Amino acid sequence: DLGVSENNSINIFSLPMVFIYYYWENILTCMVPFNVLPQSIRCRLENIEEARMKLTEEQIQQFDTEGYVFLPSCFSKEEIAVLNDAATEIYASKRKEVWRESSGIARTAFAAHTYNEAHSRLAAHPRLVNPVKQILKGNVYMHQYKINAKAAFDGDVWQWHQDFGVWHRDDGMPEPRAMNIALFLDDVTAANGPLLFLPKSHKHGVIDAGHDVKTTSYPLWTLDRETVTKLSNQGGCIAPTGPAGSVIMFSSLLVHASPPNISPLPRTIVYLSLCHVDNHITLHKREEWIAHRDFRPIEPLEDTCLIKINTHDANVAAE
Ligand code: SIN
Ligand code: MN
Repeated sequence: DLGVSENNSINIFSLPMVFIYYYWENILTCMVPFNVLPQSIRCRLENIEEARMKLTEEQIQQFDTEGYVFLPSCFSKEEIAVLNDAATEIYASKRKEVWRESSGIARTAFAAHTYNEAHSRLAAHPRLVNPVKQILKGNVYMHQYKINAKAAFDGDVWQWHQDFGVWHRDDGMPEPRAMNIALFLDDVTAANGPLLFLPKSHKHGVIDAGHDVKTTSYPLWTLDRETVTKLSNQGGCIAPTGPAGSVIMFSSLLVHASPPNISPLPRTIVYLSLCHVDNHITLHKREEWIAHRDFRPIEPLEDTCLIKINTHDANVAAE
C-alpha cells in the first residue's frame, strides 16, 4: 500500500513512506559511510561515479577526428574559487617557477602542483585524469603543469605551435602519446584572448617549425604563416569559449595559439600535460619544473577532493 486510498486520493500521512520506498538507496547513501554500504549498492555507485568520468563513444570519436573535445561546466563555482584563490597567491609570490610578461605581470606558473595544495589535488583530479587515461589507454604521469594567466590588458600572445613539437625536440619525448587537458578558471570569451585551434591539424604528425626565442618571454617551436594558412583552409580555425569550470581535452599534435588579451578581463587557464608512463621523456635539457622527471603513475583522488580542502585547511589550522 503506497498511500493511495480506495477512492484514489493520497493519504498525506503516507507520503513519507512513498518517499522512502523510492529513494531508500539515496537515503542510505547519505546516512551511512560508503565502505559499510551493502556491496550491491556500492557497486552500483562506483559504476555511476566511473561512468560520470568516462568519455562517450561520440566524444572519443570527436577527439580523434577534430583533435579536441570541449566539456562545458565540469567544475563548480566553489571548486573554481579554490583554484583561483591559489593562483592569485602563486602569481603574487617571487617563485622562480612564475614566468612574467615583459610588463612584469605573471604569464604562467609552472609546477604549481608541487608547491600548492589546491593545485596538487587538481593534478590528480579524477574528472581530469580519468578521461585522459581513457584516451591514452593506460597510466599517465605529469609531464608539465602550468597556470596561464593571460592577464587583463597585458596578457601576451602564444604563437602557433604544437605541444608535442616542443616536447619531442626539447625533451626527447618519443611518441605523441601525451595530451593536454585544460580547465578554465575564468569565463573565456571572444574578448579575453581565447585559445585558437586548427581542427584536424593533429593528423599531420610533427610539422616543421622554427625556434622562436624573441616574440615572447617563453621560447617555443613555432609554425610559419604559410603552414598555418594551409591548415586553416583545410580544417578551419576556431576559438572554444565557455564559462569558468569548462574543460578542453586536446591532442599534443593539435596546432594552437592565442592572441594577446587587451580586454579588462583576465583569462586564467590551467593545463595538465599528461603523458603515458611508457612514453616518458629522455632528454633533460629544460628545468625539472618545466619538463618533469617523476614518471610515476598518477593515482586519481576522490571527486570531492577540491571541496574538502577547506575542511582540511580548517583541521590543520586547529592542530
Ligand atoms: C599554450 O599553448 O601552451 C598556452 C596557450 C594559452 O594559454 O593561451
Ligand atoms: Mn601549447
